[in-house]
Amino acid sequence: MASAFDVVVIGAGPGGYIAAIRAAQLGFTVACVDDGVRADGKPAPGGTCTNVGCIPSKALLQSSEHFDTARAHFSEHGIGLKDLSIDVPKMIARKAKIVQQTNEGILYLFKKNKITFFQGRAAFEGKEGNGWRLNVSPVGVNKNAETLTAAHVIVATGSSPRALPEAPFDNKRVLDNEGALALTETPKRLGVVGAGVIGLEMGSVWRRLGAEVTLLEALPEFLGVADAAVAKEAAKLFKAQGLVIHTGVKITGVKNGAKELAVEYTDATGAAQKAVFDKLIVSIGRVPNTRGLNAEAVGLALDERGFIAVDDHCRTNLPNVWAIGDVVRGPMLAHKAEEEGVAVAERLAGQKPHVDFNTVPFVIYTSPEIAWVGKTEQQLKAAGVSYRAGSVPFMANGRARALGDTRGFVKWLADAATDRVLGLHIIGPMASELVMEGVTAMEFGAASEDIARICHAHPTLTETVKEAALALDGRALNF
Ligand code: FAD
Ligand code: NAI
Repeated sequence: MASAFDVVVIGAGPGGYIAAIRAAQLGFTVACVDDGVRADGKPAPGGTCTNVGCIPSKALLQSSEHFDTARAHFSEHGIGLKDLSIDVPKMIARKAKIVQQTNEGILYLFKKNKITFFQGRAAFEGKEGNGWRLNVSPVGVNKNAETLTAAHVIVATGSSPRALPEAPFDNKRVLDNEGALALTETPKRLGVVGAGVIGLEMGSVWRRLGAEVTLLEALPEFLGVADAAVAKEAAKLFKAQGLVIHTGVKITGVKNGAKELAVEYTDATGAAQKAVFDKLIVSIGRVPNTRGLNAEAVGLALDERGFIAVDDHCRTNLPNVWAIGDVVRGPMLAHKAEEEGVAVAERLAGQKPHVDFNTVPFVIYTSPEIAWVGKTEQQLKAAGVSYRAGSVPFMANGRARALGDTRGFVKWLADAATDRVLGLHIIGPMASELVMEGVTAMEFGAASEDIARICHAHPTLTETVKEAALALDGRALNF
């Protein structure tokens, strides 16, 4: 006998579990199926984000930053330390505990919202009236196969790391994000292919703990997705931290030997090079998870890049089948997946939600952090938009000086004619938190003058956000 639900969500990552909760809040009967398994076989809901992404990476970034601060900056505060050391297995165990707490938190939320959770792998079987029949093959401690029927299906199956053809992942020497987050000792020589978000965050963790880190990036420009001034400042600061970054690289071969690994590549000038590493992290983007869904059999259409094809409302080509998060177009970010999950649930309830990709914030949790929302200067120039920019360094901020971190700057971009905010770009302390002022400004259609006229608490880092808005009008007060 099939269990019947109004909504079945496939995948309990940030897209799926949030969609399930919102649908339950709106009065639907909801099931969520996820194939995540902990080492002990118990369910590990939370997807990539909770298990091998956002949360564990931030745990390691925090631990390694504490270590680095103690090593390099405590003495400035008059704090003396003898025999500073790092216990990497303990750091990894702390991370594992945080992940497990988050898994358990999601299971608690399912229970609280009366969502039926199935530990297993879901696949489409066929139509069932206006809805769908799905089968769930058990994984982990669950030994029961199930058949479910759903009036609506939300596919939130996420993404997996893209492998380098020359070096398949073995998570011994060639590491994906999971392997990079699970090292129990600091490698002496760490190579990273791809100087994107994962490469920079993971490279930073292991560099702070003493690894020699070399990043090999295919594109000629470093961090081309960020505003060019931010990318330039980041390149300078990361170099000072000891991260070696080569751009314009083409990998030509990888020899995975018994003791070490040799990467052959051509550099930006086309010259052949070879680098030898103890471990290699490959972080060259991610691919959507559609295998095993039986998508072909039911005719679920994919786009040319293998993502599930959806319209602006996350509707697929099949009636009553929706798809959200990393498995569909758009930035691969947890908060984007969550917003889409909420929007689909609300649409099922007859509401008219809207997710605005223009106001999705981006954050790179390096030190200093990098964060932005809206357009970059190079995008505005390319689009022929006339704009004004206001930029102020954290050096001019009293709180930043007290913190001992005056690196970086804040830059607002606003339309030259209307003063409407078009973008906010930050590299500096707590950029991840500060960027939300730009998101709010853009959501409310604010002008840069609005920001400049808002009273900001003193002394806070947010004063630099205000000061940059004043600078845009040529009237900065503290710079
Ligand atoms: P996922 O989180 O991937 O969840 C999908 C779930 O569905 C998984 O549990 C998967 O196993 C399951 N599944 C797949 N197929 C089936 C099936 N057939 N049946 C049942 N279950 C299935 N984003 C941020 O916003 N901030 C960050 O700081 C950040 N850091 C990151 C760090 C790393 C190292 C990585 C790899 C990613 C990071 N991301 C970050 C990206 C973020 O993790 C993803 O954007 C987010 O997890 C996508 O959510 P999702 O719900 O679409 O998919
Ligand atoms: P990414 O897209 O950020 O970076 C991949 C990098 O690899 C790019 O710079 C690309 O040019 C380069 N590259 C591609 N092929 C290459 C090759 N063959 N050789 C050398 N370089 C190559 O992807 P990444 O870092 O793998 O992360 C995946 C996703 O996870 C991202 O979309 C990101 O949004 C998300 N993520 C988000 C985080 C955050 O929000 N802080 C943290 C980590 C990941």
